[in-house]
Amino acid sequence: MPVFLRSTLPVLFLLCLALLPVAARAEITAEDVNLRIDTFDEIDRLFKALRFKVVNQRSDNRQGAMVYSRELVELSYRLPALFDEPSPREIYPQSRARPEIWNRKARYDFLLDEFLDNLEMIHDHLDKGQMSQAGQLIDRTAQSCRRCHNTFRYR
Ligand code: HEC
Repeated sequence: MPVFLRSTLPVLFLLCLALLPVAARAEITAEDVNLRIDTFDEIDRLFKALRFKVVNQRSDNRQGAMVYSRELVELSYRLPALFDEPSPREIYPQSRARPEIWNRKARYDFLLDEFLDNLEMIHDHLDKGQMSQAGQLIDRTAQSCRRCHNTFRYR
């Protein structure tokens, strides 16, 4: 083996090892970021409609309310995977996601999990005809939107 190769091969080998995790990590794409924004916009629309029906109008039409709550649960399941990788603002100026999502990942994941759990519980309450419990949880969940946005979303 030429001296040149003997000295550079270990370096190349180490370089490959160092680059491996970068290559193996799935990068976030513009489609992911746009889907995230569209999903939240849709959640916003459905959540307001659900709140209006159950809290403001005190509707006892469970089936009607469950059309919203079911779709909210399904949409929210998309969210965790769409925050797997950081989406720096320099690359994705359309996003309002703050770097704190990835710097304080445990806190963010906790709030997101809690949000998903609340949407599931709202749906369960409606399913059982527990309209006032559903209404109270809808109000608490509305506060959790703001709590998360205060720390993790740009204004
Ligand atoms: C666990 C944190 C968290 C919770 C809970 C949460 N959001 Fe958000 N929301 C975000 C983040 C982060 C973004 C920014 C996403 C982006 O722009 O990439 C966002 C974006 C949005 C957007 C705007 C999309 C845009 O950037 O134009 C709306 C509307 C929205 N959220 C509504 C809601 C509503 C309504 C709720 C509660 C029913 C809610 N969110 C709960 C974190 C959260």
